[in-house]
Amino acid sequence: MRIFSGLQPTGRKHLGNYIGAIVQYVEGQQRAADAGDVAIYCVVDLHAMTVPWVPGEMRERVYDTASILLAAGLDPDRCIFIRQSDVPEHTELAWHLGAVTAHGDLNRMHQFKEKSAKQRDLVSSDLFTYPVLMAADVLAYRADEVPVGDDQRQHVELMRDVAQRFNERFGDVLVVPELKIPEVGARIMDLQDPTSKMSTSSASLEGTVHVLDDAQAVEKKFKRAVTDSEDPPRIVRDKSKPGVSNLLDILAAARRTTVEEATASLAGARGYGDLKVATADAVNALLAPVRERYVELRADEDALEDIFAAGAEKARAITRPVLADVREAMGVGPRPRG
Ligand code: TYM
Repeated sequence: MRIFSGLQPTGRKHLGNYIGAIVQYVEGQQRAADAGDVAIYCVVDLHAMTVPWVPGEMRERVYDTASILLAAGLDPDRCIFIRQSDVPEHTELAWHLGAVTAHGDLNRMHQFKEKSAKQRDLVSSDLFTYPVLMAADVLAYRADEVPVGDDQRQHVELMRDVAQRFNERFGDVLVVPELKIPEVGARIMDLQDPTSKMSTSSASLEGTVHVLDDAQAVEKKFKRAVTDSEDPPRIVRDKSKPGVSNLLDILAAARRTTVEEATASLAGARGYGDLKVATADAVNALLAPVRERYVELRADEDALEDIFAAGAEKARAITRPVLADVREAMGVGPRPRG
């Protein structure tokens, strides 16, 4: 059972990324190793070039993200930890997969619609083909499982279609991966607007809890979280109560329990204030050790580069033979001699 997942380089990774994805990565690295296989985790710097970026800051943001992931518990000796641009097979495979990806399917991607609407100068073709590179990231390793948050569902479904279409046309070369969404916390919502997902580009800084926020900032954001005005207040997970439901999801995910248990633990609460304090405490307990380790890891960029170099070597031992099979199946490149 092989796992692959990726996340974009930014120092402002938020609680949605942490609960929706990073917690699953740490669990997956052990599960893959126990099954005699490996988990590959990737900082996707090439995907960060699909919208405007500052060249002089790119490397810094990659180091920030890498340090968050390592601080969260990814162990480069137990998983393969890479920077996307260090493994050229990702971009080569993206080109080959483009041959079996329908333009119409890419046009239907929600993320493309949202992000292209926000661009003022240029909607780049890289933004349009973003999901093809994402498919290549996973398919280059013949990964079985892709742990992501709910917002990546459509991209993973597309990569499954692309792998199937490739195999139908060229033979059984690629593995069709499975989507893996966490049971609790697949869609963490903005604390100020609990009907929108928490996101890096969110308008409200107040509603987004960052992994690197200090304890007081976290507490403040939770205390101001939007709930509802039901009287008397009811602490239950319910569609009509998006703010309270989001806090219960966060509380359960941060404590690694179920929503039922989190709800039961607040049976004696006097109001939403108690829910907010409990959630802020649980999030701080989850993130405090990460913030501490982050500072140490981020200080040594040479060590981070060494980790990436070793990761790329391990990665390419997997991706080179896969690409050789892909080229051969497609009739591209020199005639194999053996
Ligand atoms: P990115 O960097 O935007 O997000 C990283 C992960 O965080 C999850 N996530 C959330 N989960 C729960 N609640 C939220 N509010 C929330 N916001 C974000 C995302 O679902 C994601 O799992 N396209 C990907 C990166 C990528 C990738 C890949 C992922 C590139 N290649 C191959 C898997 C496999 C992205 O932009 O993630």
